[in-house]
Amino acid sequence: MPGKFSRRRFAKLAGLSAVAMSATPAKSQKRGAKPKSAPRAAARFPNGFVWGTATSAYQIEGAVLEDGRGSSIWDTFAHQPGKIEDGSNADQANDHFHRYKEDVGLLRELGVKAYRFSVAWPRVFPDGDGAPNPKGLDFYDRLLDELLANGISPYATLYHWDLPQSLQDRFGGWQSGETSRAFANYAGYVAGRLGDRVKTIFTLNECARFVDFGYGAGIDAPGLKLPQAVVNQVRHNAALGHGLAVQAIRAKGRADIKLGPAENIAACVPAIDTPENVRAAEIATREMNAGFLNVILEGKYTDAFLAYAGKDAPKHTADELRIISSPIDFVGLNIYAPQFYVVAAEHAPGFDVLPFPASFPHMNSEWLRIGPETAYWVPRLAAKVWNLDTIYISENGTSAVDQLAPDGKIYDLDRIMYLRNYLAQLQRATAEGVPVRGYFLWSLMDNFEWIYGLEKRFGLYHVDFKTQRRTPKLSASFYRNVVARNGAGA
Ligand code: BG6
Repeated sequence: MPGKFSRRRFAKLAGLSAVAMSATPAKSQKRGAKPKSAPRAAARFPNGFVWGTATSAYQIEGAVLEDGRGSSIWDTFAHQPGKIEDGSNADQANDHFHRYKEDVGLLRELGVKAYRFSVAWPRVFPDGDGAPNPKGLDFYDRLLDELLANGISPYATLYHWDLPQSLQDRFGGWQSGETSRAFANYAGYVAGRLGDRVKTIFTLNECARFVDFGYGAGIDAPGLKLPQAVVNQVRHNAALGHGLAVQAIRAKGRADIKLGPAENIAACVPAIDTPENVRAAEIATREMNAGFLNVILEGKYTDAFLAYAGKDAPKHTADELRIISSPIDFVGLNIYAPQFYVVAAEHAPGFDVLPFPASFPHMNSEWLRIGPETAYWVPRLAAKVWNLDTIYISENGTSAVDQLAPDGKIYDLDRIMYLRNYLAQLQRATAEGVPVRGYFLWSLMDNFEWIYGLEKRFGLYHVDFKTQRRTPKLSASFYRNVVARNGAGA
């Protein structure tokens, strides 16, 4: 090295060993002979694995006053001062309502064959119930036609948190079974109208989040801080809405529609991989998801859940449990971060949860702790605990700072690091036979990230919200390569 660094010091800085730097070629390696290094292992996903990206209506569509759309609890909430960190709202968001053709073009560029989006309930039923808006599904008709013309299969979510405000005003939203029934009516209507083109439907997105954050902690819309008994009832009503929707879609939609939830499963991971801890993580997976996933898959609240809830347990009937657990075709898991590192315990119900050290690493969102093994353990444990044969990773991805480099590009190596490691662990799961059939990256493009507004960026495409210009980040090239190779690229 010229002047500044010795050869040895450079080697250290570059992460190489000084031995390697000074070594002469091994004697056994004859000139011209092929290097003896092993060929790179072909860590591929199963044939037919579905690669996609995910978005949701309120986060990207904009056009909140067009074609007779009613108002949603998120319109109301986002317009209340102080609720959204950067003071923004989603009145315009990505203007996807008008730019959907360009956005389908982005999907095509990525080479994905699937796209998870959500239908805005207040576009279809402006008041949540009553008469449907005649123009309510026109936008989705156009979107579906554009997707299918480009060889991209639509995966529709029916509820991604944009509850019609009228249902909140009249019934307290999910505090009432009226909302569960209105949701089923809307679900059946959408499936009846779009079921000729949409073959996979997610009922509710992240029940755990919209219930606990919206009705318990008051962080998300509708911004309520209700007692635990009411929160438990809200969760029960949401589960009931899911079950009633499954029944309505089966009754009104076509027989070939596949159905399931997209849930931010409480992600339990064995702290250390021993048989005892794995067993403990199975128990934890069931118990920590007792309020939603377990009740819809098992048809009952666990004894531990009911004992813990005590007098706050949700009121329910046997008939409701039967509806809630109507058979579904798959489970969608939104997997971002490890939530509980678990070890075996002697006491009931058989596990302890370890505290997170303050120095545990996270991505650009504080909640987004880095635990790639979550993408291995969570689907593996879910498949075992509930005997599942079809799982989709309905969301996975990360926020990043995403600064524009002087050359105008975005080198989001941190997002690539995150995705590469999570995908490698997911591939490990599929290689072991865990029935994960597809993966939807959150998100296609930067969008309105709820309480974080427009500042937390999760997209493969950068969005300039002033000009609406979409620019691919380096991670878009990374993901295109993953999709093309059907491999994690680890
Ligand atoms: C999931 C949601 O919770 O994670 C998405 O289903 C959301 O809608 C994503 O955008 C990121 O969460 P957040 O809270 O950081 O915006």
